[in-house]
Amino acid sequence: MSASSDYHIKDLTLAPQGVLRIEWADMQMPVLASIRARFAKEQPLKGVRVGACLHVTTETANLMRTLKAGGADIVLCASNPLSTQDDVAAALVRDYDVRVYAIKGEDEQTYYSHVNACVDHRPNITMDDGADVIGVLHGERPDMASDIIGGTEETTTGVIRLRALEREGRLLFPVVAVNDANTKHLFDNRYGTGQSTLDGVIRATNMLIAGSICCVAGYGWCGRGLAMRLKGHGADVIVLEVDPLRALEAVMDGFRVMPMAAAARVARLFVTATGDINVIRKEHFEVMQDGAIVANTGHFNVEIDIPALAALSVKRRKMREYVEEFTLADGRRIYLLAEGRLVNLAAAEGHPASVMDMSFANQSLSAEYLVEHHAELQNRVYGVPKEIDDEIARLKLATMNVDCDTLTPEQAAYLASWDQGT
Ligand SMILES: NC(=O)c1ccc[n+]([C@@H]2O[C@H](COP(=O)([O-])OP(=O)(O)OC[C@H]3O[C@@H](n4cnc5c(N)ncnc54)[C@H](O)[C@@H]3O)[C@@H](O)[C@H]2O)c1
Repeated sequence: MSASSDYHIKDLTLAPQGVLRIEWADMQMPVLASIRARFAKEQPLKGVRVGACLHVTTETANLMRTLKAGGADIVLCASNPLSTQDDVAAALVRDYDVRVYAIKGEDEQTYYSHVNACVDHRPNITMDDGADVIGVLHGERPDMASDIIGGTEETTTGVIRLRALEREGRLLFPVVAVNDANTKHLFDNRYGTGQSTLDGVIRATNMLIAGSICCVAGYGWCGRGLAMRLKGHGADVIVLEVDPLRALEAVMDGFRVMPMAAAARVARLFVTATGDINVIRKEHFEVMQDGAIVANTGHFNVEIDIPALAALSVKRRKMREYVEEFTLADGRRIYLLAEGRLVNLAAAEGHPASVMDMSFANQSLSAEYLVEHHAELQNRVYGVPKEIDDEIARLKLATMNVDCDTLTPEQAAYLASWDQGT
C-alpha cells in the first residue's frame, strides 16, 4: 500500500508500466490530445478545483492530464471498487502529479473514504461516473457544496439518479449530462461497452461464443452493442426487454426476444445491461442449466440478485480470476463473473481508448463550458450543448481522415424553407 495525505493507492512502484499504458492509450485519443494542446495555451481551468470520481483507467489518466494542462487542481477517486488499474493510479501520482485515491478491490469502507477525499478537496467542479460524489454532497456533506459551480455526469445510471434529484427540487448546482451527448452514448455505450463486455467475458472464462446461446438483458445503447458483437461472434442471441418498442427493435434486428423466465432455461451466458435491480433473481437461478454463466455490465452490482444465488448455494469457490462457482443443492453449478460488477472494467480494460476519446473530449469541454457559463445556469441537469457535440464529431472524423459533405447554400436554404416541395 502506498499512502500519504495526498494519495492512497496500491503501489507507487507500478508507475513505469502505467506510464507506458497511458501513452499507448493517448496515441488513440487524438481529439482529447488536441483539446489538451489548446488547454495548455489558454488555461481555461486555471485554479479550478476538480473532484473527479471516475474509473481509474489509462483513458481517464489522459483526461486528468488534459484538465491539468488547462490549469485544474484535481483529486481523483475510483467510481467502482473493482475498476481501478493500479499501475495507472501509481503513474498519475508519480509522473503526472495528480492526487489519486483508488485501489483495485478496495472494500466498501475504503471506497467511500476515497469518495470523501474527493469531497474534502472542496471542488468547484464535480466529475462523476454514477453520481457518487454528488450523492455524498447531497446526503451527508451538503456543507462542502458551497464552492461548486457545477458538475458533470458520465453514465446513464448517474443521469437517472440526478434527474430524480432535479425533479424533487433538491439538486444543489447545475450538472451537465455528458452521457447524453450523441458523441458519448451512441459510441461509448454501444461500441465501447459492446466490445469490452465481450472482452471481459472471454478473458474471464475463455468460453467459445460461437454456437453458444447468449442472453442480453436490456436493449438500450449498451445492450444493443453487446448483442451486435455477440452475433458477430456466432452466438445465438436472446434479448430481454421491458420496453415494447425496444423489444420490437430487437426482433427486427434479428434477435429472439422472450421473458427472463424462458431465457433462463436455455441460455449458457447471461449479461445484464439494464441499470435496473434484480433482473436475474431466485426463480431464474432455479431453472438455469448446469454451467450457466452470469455477468453484469450495468453500472451497479444490483442487476443480479447475488444474495439470492448465495442463499440457494451449498458450496462456493473461486474457479479462476473473476469467476466464482456457486453449487446449488441439486448439484447444478452457476458461475458469477466479477462479483456482478461491470465485467468489462473488472475482467478486461474497459472501453478502448479510441471511443473514450470522444467521451472525455465531452468531459473536458463540458468543464470549460461550466467555467464560462455557470452564472447563467440553474440547478438543473443540462445536455451537452449541440455545438460541443458537433465539434467533437467533426474533430473525430478529421482524425480518422474521413471527410463528409456539407450543405450547399442552395440546400441549406431549401431545407430551412417552409415552401420546400412546392
Ligand atoms: N459497462 C460500462 O462500461 C458501461 C458504459 C456505459 C453505461 N453503462 C451502464 O449500463 C447500463 C445501461 O446503460 P444504457 O446506456 O444501455 O441504458 P439505456 O437506458 O439505453 O438501456 C437500458 C435498457 O434496459 C431496459 N430494462 C430496464 N429494466 C429492465 C428489465 N428488468 N429487464 C429487461 N430490460 C430492462 C430498458 O427498457 C432499456 O431499454 C446503465 O447502468 C449504465 O450506467 C455501463
